[in-house]
Amino acid sequence: MKDQITATQTEALARIGEVEDARSLEDARVAILGKQGSLTQLSAGMRDVPKEEKAEVGQLLNAARQAITSALEEKKAGLQAIADAKALEGIDLTLPPRPLHGGSLHPLTLIRDEAIQILRRMGFALAEGPEIEDEFHCFDALNTPEDHPARNEKDTFYFDSGKLLRTHTSSVQVRTMETEKPPVRIIAPGSAYRRDEIDATHLSVFNQLEGLYVDTDVSLGDLKGTLEYFFHELFGPETDVRFRPHFFPFTEPSFEIDVKLHVKGQAPKWIEVAGCGMVDPAVFESIDGNRKDDAFDPAAVTGFAFGMGLDRLAMIRWGIKDIRLLIENDVRFLKQFA
Ligand code: DAH
Repeated sequence: MKDQITATQTEALARIGEVEDARSLEDARVAILGKQGSLTQLSAGMRDVPKEEKAEVGQLLNAARQAITSALEEKKAGLQAIADAKALEGIDLTLPPRPLHGGSLHPLTLIRDEAIQILRRMGFALAEGPEIEDEFHCFDALNTPEDHPARNEKDTFYFDSGKLLRTHTSSVQVRTMETEKPPVRIIAPGSAYRRDEIDATHLSVFNQLEGLYVDTDVSLGDLKGTLEYFFHELFGPETDVRFRPHFFPFTEPSFEIDVKLHVKGQAPKWIEVAGCGMVDPAVFESIDGNRKDDAFDPAAVTGFAFGMGLDRLAMIRWGIKDIRLLIENDVRFLKQFA
C-alpha cells in the first residue's frame, strides 16, 4: 500500500507537471482526485489496511493529497500568468492613455436639485403628476374658463383624444389636492409644453417647479417670506427680487416675480422667473365639489401657490444669454459646469 501511494503521487505530480492548458489540468484533477480518481481509489483501500499500520498509511495518504493539491494550484496560477501575458502581447503599455471624459450634471439638473433642497428645508415634499394631462386638471379645476387664451389650440399641444401636453405644472396642484388633505405643502418639478416660437428666452418644452401650501391660516406674508427667502438662498442675499401685481385665473391676488439678471458686458435687467399668488377660493371649490369630506372648504382653508421657470433660474444663476444653450447639448457649453 505504501509503495502504491508513493507511486501514485509520483505519477500524479508528473502528469500535472506536463499539463499545458486549463482543460487538461481539470482532466488531470478528475483523474487523480475525482470520484474514480487514482488517489481516491487508494484511499478506499484504507479499509483493508491492518490496524497497526492505519496511522502511518493515513499520514502518507494525506501528505500525497496535499502535495497533489498544491501542485494543481500552482499549475493553475502558472497557466493563468501565461494566459495574461499572452493577452497583453502586442499592446504597448508605454503609450499615453486617451483622456477620460468624465460626465457631469446638466445645469438644469443642478439648479433643480438646489431649488428642491432649499424648499425641502422649508418643509415642502415632492409631488408629481402626468405630462399628458386632461383639460380638467390643466384648466377647469384651476378656474380657467373655456374661452381663456391659454386653452387655445394654437397655444397648446392637443391630442386627438382631447388630452394635451400640460402647459404648466399647476395641474399637479389639482392632482395633489384630490388625494391629500390639508395641511398640504408640496413642490413638483417637471416639464411643461407650449407652442411658443423658440427664441433666446422661449422654448416649447421647458421646465417648471410648482409649489403649493394649503393650511388653515396661510397668508400673503407667508407667500412673500417663503419666496424671498428662496431666491436669496438660491442667488445670494444681495439679489434683487420684486413682486409685480399680475393676473392668474387660479390665484387672487396674483403676482409675477422678477429677479435681476447680471450678464457680463450687458446692463443688468429684470427677468421674470415665477408666478404666484393666494389660491383662488374657486379652485378649492372645484376640488371640494369632487370630494365627500369637505377637506378643502374655501371657508376653512387658505393657501399660496407658485410656479417658476427652472430654465430661467439657470440663466440667471450662470448668466446664460440664450435659453437654447440648455437643450443643444454642446459639450463646449456643458463642460463649463463640470
Ligand atoms: N402656471 C403659471 C404659468 O405657467 C405659473 C404660476 C402662476 C403658477 C401662479 C402658480 C401660480 O402656482 O400661483 O405661467
